[in-house]
Amino acid sequence: MKIARATTGGGEKLYIETYGCQMNVGDTEIIVSIMQDEGYEYTRNIDEADIILVNTCSIRDNAEQRIWGRLKEFQRYKRAKRSLVVGIVGCMAERLKEQLLEKEPIVDIVAGPDSYRDMPKLVQAARAGGKGINVALSQEETYGDIRPVRLDSNGVSAFISIMRGCINMCSYCVVPYTRGIERSRNPETILREARECYEAGYREITLLGQNVNSYRWKNEQGEVCVDFPRLMEMVAAVAPDLRVRFATSHPKDLSDRLIEVMAAHDNICKAIHLPAQSGSTRMLQIMNRKYTREWYLGRIAAIRAAMPDCAITTDLIAGFCTETLEDHADTLSLMREVGYESAFMFKFSMRPNTYAARHLADDVSEEEKTRRLTEIINLQNELSIESNRRDVGKTFEVLIEGHSKRSEAQLCGRTSQNKMVVFDAAEGLGAGNYAKVVITDCSSATLFGKLVKE
Ligand code: SAH
Ligand code: SF4
Ligand code: F3S
Repeated sequence: MKIARATTGGGEKLYIETYGCQMNVGDTEIIVSIMQDEGYEYTRNIDEADIILVNTCSIRDNAEQRIWGRLKEFQRYKRAKRSLVVGIVGCMAERLKEQLLEKEPIVDIVAGPDSYRDMPKLVQAARAGGKGINVALSQEETYGDIRPVRLDSNGVSAFISIMRGCINMCSYCVVPYTRGIERSRNPETILREARECYEAGYREITLLGQNVNSYRWKNEQGEVCVDFPRLMEMVAAVAPDLRVRFATSHPKDLSDRLIEVMAAHDNICKAIHLPAQSGSTRMLQIMNRKYTREWYLGRIAAIRAAMPDCAITTDLIAGFCTETLEDHADTLSLMREVGYESAFMFKFSMRPNTYAARHLADDVSEEEKTRRLTEIINLQNELSIESNRRDVGKTFEVLIEGHSKRSEAQLCGRTSQNKMVVFDAAEGLGAGNYAKVVITDCSSATLFGKLVKE
């Protein structure tokens, strides 16, 4: 018999918007799980919300500007419903703390990334006419025991957070300040979540962390008993038709052992997201990335030697403090040398309190940052299309995610290399099935193919 537990939500409706990275998407699913347990109901319709939460990102100034704009729009809902509670959660809440309450009076709750278990209490504090604030960072919190409510999932691929925080202290980056110290999640709870996903029909799992390959779980004696390559092996063993991916890895922690494990398992996807940030060793030093251009290229060579078909993608920053034209040229030449399949490319944005803000000058003009970024983007477009053209004529195993956006008569899914493939639908094939597809054509973003009859 199920024993009813007293809850505080009383069916109040919770609406939540998520900005930023996959970690935030995962955190939103944890918040919803915690709130549903307390009797709150999740809604996708903002008009019926009793509580609006915004899960925020601080990585660049424009990410924060977007959220300030959104807060202005919420005033309308607050005017329409006086009892509405508005909460800012996540990285911007952690970065700005009380200042958020001062700057924007419609905000009732400010909750940092380690305080989500407290969410029902914070809502109650706001309901009682006060403000709810908790921005304490934790050294242990991983929400390991909480079953996330998968919200915008396609039912095929799921993300599992395996660690939180970051201690790398890249000089430009706000994450160590907003997410706190690095900590790993108990592998038992990760495996349990992976098995549950598989049983629920998911066929692809992405293990998530800001620096996922420095995952390490220690036993009671304080010895590392499960490191990242070992965890990958354990998750890959859940089922042979469960694909495993990971993001994001830091080049300094990309070990030979990890490459070995990836190469040895067919269901570990042949795709590595390996943010370089810059191709200039001088810039990498100022960024505190802890590797050189040569070392990075050495890692790429090791990946290619073990897995010639492995896709490599990256993040790049244009116009970081003191970047010269020569440094910028080094980034372009690194891109050519590696031949990235795709990249996330950003203009440097100075973040308050980082090492860069305290010690370096933001001395590349906005105009010049834009020019350099445009060059980087144009080059990447060329590289992406070249990479896709190389795939024409090859056959891939595609994990089907559903119908293509354009047509019910077509299916779409991804290759192990994480490239999207669109092909004509066939009877008996749908989301969660694997299909062999030969590539016949491509654009810069998509491969087009047809089923291989077996
Ligand atoms: N932990 C991951 C990614 C963190 S944030 C990693 O280290 O690879 C995602 C990307 O945002 C970073 O890789 C970086 O390219 C970019 N980024 C971080 N801080 C930035 C800043 N201040 N300005 C511009 N881009 C930034
Ligand atoms: Fe930021 Fe560097 Fe940590 Fe990535 S590794 S989150 S860029 S500090
Ligand atoms: Fe943004 Fe925080 Fe992720 S700053 S990128 S939401 S960790």
